[in-house]
Formats: sequence, C-alpha cells, structure tokens
Amino acid sequence: MRPKLQDFQKILFFFIFLIKTVQPSWWYLGLISSSQTDFPSEPHKEEDVDCSNFKFLAPRQKELCSKEAQLHKVIGEGAKRGIAECQNQFSNRRWNCSTFNTTDVFGKVLQLKTRETAYIYAIQSAGIMYAVTRACARGDLERCGCDTKVRQKDTNGQFEWGGCSENTRYGGKFSKEFVDTNEHRTSEDGLMNLWNNEAGRKATKSQMDLLCKCHGVSGSCSVKICWKKLKNFQAIGKALKDKFDGASLVRFIKNKRKLKRINRDMKKPTKKDLVYLHESPDFCNQNPNYGSLGTQGRKCNKTSFGLDGCTLMCCGRGYYTIIKEIKEDCDCKFVWCCRVDCKRCTQVVEENYCN
Ligand SMILES: *[C@@H]1O[C@H](CO)[C@@H](O)[C@H](O)[C@H]1NC(C)=O
Ligand SMILES: *[C@@H]1O[C@H](CO)[C@@H](O)[C@H](O)[C@H]1NC(C)=O
Repeated sequence: MRPKLQDFQKILFFFIFLIKTVQPSWWYLGLISSSQTDFPSEPHKEEDVDCSNFKFLAPRQKELCSKEAQLHKVIGEGAKRGIAECQNQFSNRRWNCSTFNTTDVFGKVLQLKTRETAYIYAIQSAGIMYAVTRACARGDLERCGCDTKVRQKDTNGQFEWGGCSENTRYGGKFSKEFVDTNEHRTSEDGLMNLWNNEAGRKATKSQMDLLCKCHGVSGSCSVKICWKKLKNFQAIGKALKDKFDGASLVRFIKNKRKLKRINRDMKKPTKKDLVYLHESPDFCNQNPNYGSLGTQGRKCNKTSFGLDGCTLMCCGRGYYTIIKEIKEDCDCKFVWCCRVDCKRCTQVVEENYCN
C-alpha cells in the first residue's frame, strides 16, 4: 500500500521538530547570575568562578569569559538586562517574552525564525555590549576604560572633551566576538542571527547622549566639559522594538549565501534593521511545538483597541472581569507634633482577564 501524502507530511513535520533542537545559550547566565536587582553590582571579593565549567557556553565563549575574573558577572548582567527589557517591551503583547528555567532560556519560540526571534537576538547582543561598555567606564574590567579617541573629534569650539566617555567600540567588539561565534555564515539561521546581532549593536551605538558640565566663575559657562554616555537601556529596547515593527521578511539565497528581501516593493533592509525568515504564529493558544503559552488568563485592557485590548489579546474568546476593592490611606493630615493621621479609603478597581 502506498503511503498517503498526509502521512508523509506528518512524518516530515515530526522530523523538522526532532532535528531542530534549540541550542543552549550564554543567555542562561542572565538567569543564574546572582539575583541582585540593582546594577551596578559591587565587584571584587567574589569567589572564583571558572567559565570553562559553564556547559551552555561555546568553546570560544568559555575562552573569552575566562580572560578576566569579572567577565562572567558582566556577561550575566548583560543577559539579564536583555531579558528584562524584552519582557518590558513585550508585556502588552500576546507573546510576552516569557523565559523558562532552561539553558535555551526563551524556549522553543526560537525554533521559528520569526521577528520575535530576531528581537531576542538583537536585544541580547545589545545587552552584552551595554554591560561591557558600562563595566569599562566603571573601571571593573582590566582591558578597557574610557574612550580616549573621542577626544580627537573636533568640537567646533563649542566645548572641550573631558570626563569619561563610554567606549562603545570595545563593548561592541566584545559583543561581536562573544555572541557571533555561535553562528554559521553558511546557513539561513546563522545569517539571520548574525544580521540581528549586528542590528542590536548598531541600535546601542545610536543611543548615546552628550552630557556637559559648566565650569567658570559664579555660574558662567566659560569652560564647558562634555563626555558621551549611553542612554538608559530602555531607550535601546524601544529603538529595537521600532525595528521589530518594521522588520523585513527575507529568504535565503543558497548559492550566494545571502539573505534577500522577499517583497521587492518593500524597502531593502539595512544593517540597522531586523530581518526574519518565517511569519509569526498568532500565539493565541498554548502550543508546545513552538513554546507558545497562549493568552488564557492574561490581563487585558477593556477600552483599548490595541494589542493589549481584550479583543485582540483574547483572540475573540472573550474575557472575564474581577472587581477588586483596594484599601489605602487617604486625606492624610499632619498633627503637631509629630503624627500623621489618615483615613482609610476604599477604591474599587476592575480588572479584565482573557478566557
Ligand atoms: C533553575 O534551575 C536550576 C538548575 O536546574 C536551579 O538550580 C535553580 O534554582 C532554578 N532557578 C529558578 C529560579 O527556578
Ligand atoms: C506572560 O504570559 C504568561 C501567560 O501567557 C504568563 O504566565 C506570564 O506571567 C507573563 N509574563 C510576564 C512577564 O508578564
């Protein structure tokens, strides 16, 4: 009996998911690094950590990480920043950048080469560049410091360079060496990841401020000293989120080993843009094959027509409402001396959740 086409498809589907296992990643350092919530952490007096014991690092990454005692902390800090910012930028979307306590961190969503995957690679590459750059400026790393080359740039007599300009060149170079080492230039996945890694670094470089301080008698600004500093990481997360919204669908040209846009009517993606190979699923329902948790039980906004609104978030399944009473202090008065008297007020709030 000849096998039916349908059976063949089933087998093929099975094999695709079987063969494409998700790789462990350095991002895991962001989950296991000590649970300090405040960067910058205080370095020194940390027990020796041997990066070569981290099974989730590639050989070259172990080597780079071992170069300095503090590096594993800085890399962990970068990964953690990236994860937190991804969850911040996507908190109101169906896919909300959930992480799992596994060495692939973001789970099976990475098996699909969608814009979500593109964002993850870009923000993580940016995270490590940011963390290394900051650590250099703080003096936590031995091989780098402030950017001295920037001082050669002409300022048209407007100000003088001074202070510590942050060295994104070193941070970017480290990110590239460390992050890109996992990828193959000959595969479509590798090329896509490399492209998005670089877009993350370009976004980081574009988010710098010129900060200045005036010196001079009684508030005059006869000498103006300026230096360059990275904006907060949220600015980078937002810049990449805009790139996510405008990401380009590309395909792999095998004999040229290149990615090319599919739709010639669309603008050609630059190195600053995000690219992806597959359209995203809707993430409405739970699907273990691509790590979708579904939107059941997610909070939604009844009055919004956007992605956070109950209509789109709940995929038409409807929602339920919970009325909560919140008790809080109100009408507080200062009573001489020294007491504050408050009334207790009850506020009623309505919260909506997807069915
Ligand atoms: C994650 O898993 C590791 C090892 O399986 C465990 O040691 C750690 O406590 C877990 N972390 C969390 C936050 O669950
Ligand atoms: C993301 O959504 C899942 C359910 O889809 C939920 O369990 C989780 O708490 C959400 N995570 C964040 C960071 O909001």
